[in-house]
Formats: sequence, structure tokens, C-alpha cells
Amino acid sequence: MGVWVLLVGILLHGVALCNGGITSSFVRKTGMSVDMPLDSDVFRVPPGYNAPQQVHITQGDHEGRGVLVSWVTMDEPGSNTVLYGTSKDKLEFRAEGIVTSYKYYNYTSGFIHHCTLKKLEYDTTYYYEVGIGNTTRQFWFRTPPKVGPDVPYTFGLIGDLGQTFDSNSTLTHYESNPIKGQTVLYVGDLSYADNYPFHNNIRWDTWGRFVERSVAYQPWIWTAGNHELDFGPEFGERVPFKPFTHRYHVPYRASGSTSQLWYSVKRASAYIIVLSSYSAYGKYTPQYQWLEQELPKVNRSETPWLIVLVHSPWYNSYNYHYMEGETMRVMYESWFVQYKVDLVFAGHVHAYERSERVSNIAYNIVNGKCSPVDDTSAPVYITVGDGGNIEGLANNMTEPQPAYSAFREASFGHAVLDIKNRTHAYYAWHRNQDGFSAVADSVWFFNRYWQPDN
Ligand SMILES: [Fe+2]
Repeated sequence: MGVWVLLVGILLHGVALCNGGITSSFVRKTGMSVDMPLDSDVFRVPPGYNAPQQVHITQGDHEGRGVLVSWVTMDEPGSNTVLYGTSKDKLEFRAEGIVTSYKYYNYTSGFIHHCTLKKLEYDTTYYYEVGIGNTTRQFWFRTPPKVGPDVPYTFGLIGDLGQTFDSNSTLTHYESNPIKGQTVLYVGDLSYADNYPFHNNIRWDTWGRFVERSVAYQPWIWTAGNHELDFGPEFGERVPFKPFTHRYHVPYRASGSTSQLWYSVKRASAYIIVLSSYSAYGKYTPQYQWLEQELPKVNRSETPWLIVLVHSPWYNSYNYHYMEGETMRVMYESWFVQYKVDLVFAGHVHAYERSERVSNIAYNIVNGKCSPVDDTSAPVYITVGDGGNIEGLANNMTEPQPAYSAFREASFGHAVLDIKNRTHAYYAWHRNQDGFSAVADSVWFFNRYWQPDN
């Protein structure tokens, strides 16, 4: 009898293994992630009266010839000018920006400057300077190569970063990765200021100073997450996304969008579409109409790699935020299959997961076809909400691992997507506990348009 029970047990175990992918057995320290204290060196205010701080750049146009420079001055508005040029010693060009500020409960922001540098040369290093008088600060960035189908380019992927000691480890690992990311695709949830009483916006300022060491030198492409909502009607803050939309401008008009929260950019050989999980996306809504018109515009002979960023994942097998992305998936997934989206990156779940190429678009309420199936036209869905924020790891998974889940692990980390040409891209996920060059999950992706069979 005992032997039979054992045999049945082994068989069932085998079935479970065949059904899903890999659940990593990596053993990590458990414990809460705590925010770095306000006097941490990573939050240090740059010296000098009214010195520009929280300097950050993002793409400033649709093609990659623009850079949007943003920074904050605390004492007075100061200058809206950016001086820039291709030589460190000769900043021969200048651009004028705008300044804004906002109040949030009992917090008043500094002076937030935004200035777009336009019509830059491709594949060129520029030096730029912000500030005025004795307190100027100089940084640099490199523009992407001209858009083209076989242009190699390397993206970093970070999500749900926050500002804990683990967040700092994630950023350091990204910076120290021997595969050098040239632009970060950021999948939402930035500062986690809303975990403080009255969403203490000082934690938006500290976050801006913390990430400056990367984002002042390379663009981060911003996606809005739920922690950007900052909706606090109980203390009079009724306008969603107020701090985020004041601080993190994006070139949404360049892609015909009517909102900062969804837009697209081309960069090298990639076409990146950013969506908002927390804005209306049902039929007839502005986001729906924009996406419906956007997808047919993507020319895969120009930008073979079609990438979507969204905060709430559509394929997630953790017990955290389970099925929260479901309604958006129902609205848009058939388009993603029709237009052969290569990759969908999400955050929100504080862990890592990579899906198989699956779709779940056959269901029509009465036909019973409600399970994901293998689909070579479907994207791979990747969750990288593992930046290390104050809320800690999502380490509780649905069991057994569903067939759509190829690999999952509850560790903090980041990923890189290293596009080689129109057909091949190397992708790797790195966990913070490892050395900088160690890879915890990797895969070669084949482009859905140019190499549709794996
Ligand atoms: Fe989130």
C-alpha cells in the first residue's frame, strides 16, 4: 500500500513539473527592506546656493534626437537654461526650458525645471550644464544611434525601485553590470513616498537625488505605477499623479498622445510603447484610441523590436497582485498578438518572473477556451518589480507553477536587454546577492517579425 502511495506521489510530482516552468530554489535572507535614512550619503544635497539637484534625463522626442533635461532648485527659480555642446570645455549651444512647482498637503516643492535639447547629432557624446553663477553642475550623455533595423542597443530594466538599502544595491548592480545598459526602461513605482504620512514628498526629493548618479547620464523611460497616483482625498489631495507629472515630464505629444501617462519612443532598433495601468483603457477612452492608432504605425523594417512597458503584469503567478492586470489584458492582448509584440515588461509584483510565449484570446464567454495556449505570435511577459522597495519581496507563489510561467524567483535584481540586430537579442536577469557579472536567468529572444519561428 505504502509503495503505491509513493508511486502515485512521484507521478503527480512529475506532472506538476511538466506543467510549469522553473521555480528557482535560490535561498536568500529574509527580512524587511528599510528606507535609507535622510542623512544617507546617497541623498546628499549638492553644495552651493540653489544648486541644481535631482538632475534627470529622458528621451525628448520620438526619434532619439531630443533629450529632455529636468532638475530641481530649492531656494529660488534660478535659470531655465541648459548649456550644452560636444566638448567639455565649450558648451556652445543653449536651450531654454520652463519651470513649475506644486503643493501637496503641507509640502511645497522646489522649482522643477524641464528643458528639451532638440535636433542633436546621433551617436554623439554631449556635455551639459545646469544652474547659474557659482553653482553650476555639469553632466554628460550619449545620444542613441540613428534609428535602424540592425542597430545594436542595450536597455536596462528596473522596476519598483524605492529607496531602501536593497534599492541602492539594485542600482549599483545595474551600474556595475559588465553588460552596460545605455537607457533604462523603468516599469513604474519610483519613490514610494506614499508609504509615509501624508505621502511625505520629501521622499520624492530624496529619490531624485538617489538616482541622479545614473539618470543624469542616461535616459530613463518612465512608466507610471500605482505609487505614482498619490491620491489622498482624505487630506485634500484629489488630483491623481500630481507629484509624478510635475517631476517626470516625457515627450508624449511627439507620439500623438494626449497624456503624459501613455506614449511611445523609437530608440535605435526598438519601438517602445508605454501604457498606464491606472488610467482608463476601456473602449473609447483616450488611451484605447491612441493605442489602436499607434500599433499599426510601427514599421518593423525600421524598428524590428516592439516592446511594451506597463506597470501591472498580465501574466503573473505570484499570490501578490494576482490577476490585477487581467482587465487590461482582456482589452489589448489580441492586438499584441496581431502586431507581434516582442516583449512586455511590467513591475508591481516585487519579484522576478518570465513567461513562455502564450496568448489567451480565444475566449468568448461561452466556448470555454479560457486557458493560455502556446502562441509564437505572442510576446514574452517579464515582471521585474524587484527593485527593492520598502514593501519587501513577494515570496508567496501560486502552486503548482502554471504552464505559462517559464521562470520565477523572489529576489531583488534588475535585467538587461542587449539587442544585437533585427533577429537576435540577449536578455539576462541579475539578482542582487550575486557578483556583478553573474546571471540568474538568461535567454536569447528571436524577433517576432523577422524570425517568428524559434
Ligand atoms: Fe506597484
